[in-house]
Amino acid sequence: MIEHSHVSGESEESNETLQRIIGAEAGALDRAAEGALRPRELADFVGQKKVREQLSLVLDAASMRGTPPEHMLLSGPPGLGKTTLAMIIAHELGSPLKITSGPAVQHAGDLAAILSSLEEGEVLFIDEIHRLARPAEEMLYMAMEDFRVDVVVGKGVGATAIPLELPPFTAVGATTRAGMLPSPLRDRFGFTGHLDYYTAEELSRVIARSAARLEIEIEAKSAYEIASRSRGTPRIANRLLRRVRDYAQVRGGGAITMESTLEALTVYEVDPRGLDRLDRAVLHALCTKFGGGPVGLSTLAIAVGEETETVETVVEPFLVREGLLGRTPRGRIATPAAWRHLELDAPAPNSAHDSTLFDVSGREDGRFT
Ligand SMILES: Nc1ncnc2c1ncn2[C@@H]1O[C@H](COP(=O)(O)OP(=O)(O)O)[C@@H](O)[C@H]1O
Ligand SMILES: [Mg+2]
Repeated sequence: MIEHSHVSGESEESNETLQRIIGAEAGALDRAAEGALRPRELADFVGQKKVREQLSLVLDAASMRGTPPEHMLLSGPPGLGKTTLAMIIAHELGSPLKITSGPAVQHAGDLAAILSSLEEGEVLFIDEIHRLARPAEEMLYMAMEDFRVDVVVGKGVGATAIPLELPPFTAVGATTRAGMLPSPLRDRFGFTGHLDYYTAEELSRVIARSAARLEIEIEAKSAYEIASRSRGTPRIANRLLRRVRDYAQVRGGGAITMESTLEALTVYEVDPRGLDRLDRAVLHALCTKFGGGPVGLSTLAIAVGEETETVETVVEPFLVREGLLGRTPRGRIATPAAWRHLELDAPAPNSAHDSTLFDVSGREDGRFT
């Protein structure tokens, strides 16, 4: 049984601003589609071998002892499977699951209500746990450590704290920012699993599995092609699969072939490396308008008609991760790989591009404008 409590305020602001087909955050449509695609069992969870092995030991040991396992923290970028793993944990334990999130818990009282309704052995999933309000966080420490909460009744001088015993339960926290968790909270997790980006081979398996679920026929090499453009992220892989399926249904015979895959991905402007129109516009401006840089962030943003913050937080991280863009003390630079990717001729070496520009060891933000 899965019970959702207060899931409303879920990280909406981050993706309503700019909905991109290669965005890793879940949009409303993803949320509707993803339920059907989540693996139920640990054995069906693709990749993340280390985390899977560690987790299965924790779960097996707990079930041998017949006690709820220790609290667990799952960290990693959006779309890599944290929510899925939390559900798998409850499923493998055969325990009920309650779901809430940091932003949904506004007051300690909200959390007290959730905690006091827990059954013995229940799994409490707290998504975006780094966004819990401080009083709720403090209540959670105590609940996790002592299985007890103090419920405050009344106000002012007359207020009294009534201690309430909780049945043993397992908290599973998910965060995209493990570093933002205060250490007292982090210390109360007996196990931390860090999820990393997937390889194209792994994502091909995710896609093949999803295609089977959705009863879509897909050639292995098409699955690989979609996988290579999915930025290491299963959520993106599943979304691109759905868009390619649309294309194949409308313009092709239904089955996904290499031809319809390539055409669909061209229509949706997702290039072979998973860059979309905006990513390419930024790189292109950097190479053609500023000779590959260095150029200040805000100048670059103006050149592509976007907000500085959008370029910095939404576009750049992936370009940096891919080694296409560098942040230097003097500004942004295109790496040789960027020129190659755009099929442009890089300027001759030792002209404007002395090697020191590629030394990114110094200041990282390069806000020189
Ligand atoms: N290892 C995996 N194997 C199969 N599907 C996965 C895997 N990881 C994630 N997915 C799929 O990707 C989508 C996003 O996963 P989710 O757990 O919601 O990510 P997160 O909570 O980390 O943002 C879901 O549809 C899920 O089924
Ligand atoms: Mg999630």
